Amino acid sequence: MDKKLFENLDEQMNMEYESAYIYKAMAAYAAEEDWTGSEHWFNEQAREEIMHAEKFRNFLHDKGFKISFKGMQAAKTDYKSLLEAFQAALEHEQLITNNIKKLYKEAVEKEDYEVQVFLNWFIEEQVEEEANVGSVVARLEKIGDSTNGLFMMDKALGKRED
Ligand SMILES: [Fe+2]
Repeated sequence: MDKKLFENLDEQMNMEYESAYIYKAMAAYAAEEDWTGSEHWFNEQAREEIMHAEKFRNFLHDKGFKISFKGMQAAKTDYKSLLEAFQAALEHEQLITNNIKKLYKEAVEKEDYEVQVFLNWFIEEQVEEEANVGSVVARLEKIGDSTNGLFMMDKALGKRED
């Protein structure tokens, strides 16, 4: 096991937990603005991030790596609009995608096939994550300041199932 590679995987596990925290803060923002559908969407997203973190935790545990919980930064709860919140979510997902790719590159360089196989799932998942959030951002951009549009969009976001 390459120590540096596994420290970086541990770092990513922490980041996945922190992603949940960031989305919980976005859910709190949405709740304060009475966007109940968006609140639900962000809560579901947070739940998914915990699942991502647990995948890393289980993998690290299975490989006998001593996991560390590094602490989190304060998460932003003030946004000017739903669009701004979802744009921040998209930027966050792009950052995560970049991290996963860097980890994959490192696993290839270190010839760690197990880590490459493990990361495959995340490579696919990030395509979906960016597409989902990106589509919300694109629709919100079209809606602009239309109150009707925003209410309809919020309602649709409230129907998210996983
Ligand atoms: Fe994630």
